[in-house]
Amino acid sequence: MKRRVKQSFSLAASLVVSAGMTCVDATAGDDRAGIGAAEFNGKGELLQPEGFREWIFIGAPLTPNGLNNGAAGFPEFHHVYVNPDAYASYKRSGVFPDGTVIVKELLLLHKGDHQDGSKVSPSGRGYFAKTFNGLDVMVKDNKRFKSTNGWGFFNFGHKAEPYAASAPPATAADCAGCHQGNAGEGMVFKEFYPLLGR
Ligand code: HEC
Repeated sequence: MKRRVKQSFSLAASLVVSAGMTCVDATAGDDRAGIGAAEFNGKGELLQPEGFREWIFIGAPLTPNGLNNGAAGFPEFHHVYVNPDAYASYKRSGVFPDGTVIVKELLLLHKGDHQDGSKVSPSGRGYFAKTFNGLDVMVKDNKRFKSTNGWGFFNFGHKAEPYAASAPPATAADCAGCHQGNAGEGMVFKEFYPLLGR
């Protein structure tokens, strides 16, 4: 299945190259950022991204309860992925193209042995991921999300799987406001992802 998708993508890509047109990938719902690009239903809800755990993994911020007075908003690991074609485009241009999807999946920790929630493992004392526990997604689309610096925000649940199949755009107060205020124009907290390199 995976190979078939790849083959048809490169076939589409080579047809495109020979025709000298912009890239059109028949296997993705949205041609603008290729594999994994954002797909919306008729109600303007984002469909849950497919296969994101096999995208480009750019980092894993952690804000554990043990360091946040026992009550972190997101006590889990935050595993962050970018869809591969958008990542490649970003590496060339320094700009995320329309259709970019950035996924933040939350992962609960292994039960700790210490008050700060840390656990002792053969490699040392620390924090270790255990179970998937939520999905937050950002989508770049300069037209659709003009009022929030070109990024839309979606929450597919802060709980164990299964996550919601689709999610409506979150309000600016819930998501975009904090990104706008703290990550600036680019909206992505690049300083936490060395792979983004800027
Ligand atoms: C109070 C501030 C704040 C709010 C509100 C917020 N975020 Fe974030 N978000 C952050 C910070 C800081 C990071 C990076 C560090 C981390 O993950 O702890 C981040 C990271 C992300 C990332 C990974 C890409 C990046 O920019 O680092 C996604 C995706 C994301 N948030 C989506 C959402 C969604 C969806 C909502 C609303 C449901 C939301 N965020 C609400 C502060 C916020």
